[in-house]
Amino acid sequence: MKFLGKEISSPLTLASGILGISFSSLQRVINDGAGMVTTKSLSLEPRMGHEGPIIAEFEGGLLNSVGLTNPGIEEGLLEIEKFHQACQGVSIVSVFGGNTQEFKQLAEAVNGSPADLLELNLSCPNVEDEFKRPFALVPEMVTEIVSAVCAVSSIPVLAKLSPNALDIGEIAGLAEAAGADAITMINTLGHGMVIDPIAKRPVLRNNFGGMSGPCIKPLALKLIHDVYKTVKIPILGTGGVSTGLDAVEMMMAGASAVAIGTAVYDKGLDVFSLAKREMDTFMREHGYADYPELIGILEEN
Ligand code: FUM
Repeated sequence: MKFLGKEISSPLTLASGILGISFSSLQRVINDGAGMVTTKSLSLEPRMGHEGPIIAEFEGGLLNSVGLTNPGIEEGLLEIEKFHQACQGVSIVSVFGGNTQEFKQLAEAVNGSPADLLELNLSCPNVEDEFKRPFALVPEMVTEIVSAVCAVSSIPVLAKLSPNALDIGEIAGLAEAAGADAITMINTLGHGMVIDPIAKRPVLRNNFGGMSGPCIKPLALKLIHDVYKTVKIPILGTGGVSTGLDAVEMMMAGASAVAIGTAVYDKGLDVFSLAKREMDTFMREHGYADYPELIGILEEN
């Protein structure tokens, strides 16, 4: 099947922020059955991120407040070069800028690399102290950043949106009108908080963070279905997917491809081969010949 013109061996994709940027980890995910991999969001300069603990477990998922730790775009793109020398997978380079100009500079840097697709992280909930509200919650900023990037990018652009938007359909429509080639959704939910009752303190050093994992899957499905009905561009669905059947549901809701994130922590990299096998079995048993047949076939009651 194809996603944004790129041939992919399966719709399964590594979500951003899970395995960093090292080409060998990204390559392993492709070998395990994913069609695409997304890097950790890269900024113009390296970022240390927040002090630990940056991850807290709770029943139903994970809370993270990483703070966009990354080695910077230059080093990230060196790994992307190695990735493309090593395997046939499709790469999605995720970038984060503190303003429109930085997003534009990042897109220009990515133009000079073998990256296949560019994802704009407009929705990280963990850096409000530095950058204020995530851009995905500010309609004018979505229009401004996506238009500026699309004017210079030589590769297709995905806008990554937040479940915290009041009307995610409206935001997705603005991203599409500004030239985005696809929507990635959803980023983590909230802020949430996990408390250590003995210490009487939040577990995360940053006090709160974005929620991911199975607890957000129903919300992801609903919002993806809403956006599928609103825009014509494809959706890279993500949010709580940990099995092949979860991925099938997400495609039925309207996703053209499905990213797995938090489940990698629970199940290891085998999650991709297990999920692919489960998807393929489901399709065979229910008479679907190819993955695209699943996209958006949900029938509402
Ligand atoms: O804190 C983080 O690095 C998370 C980023 C994101 O959710 O986009």
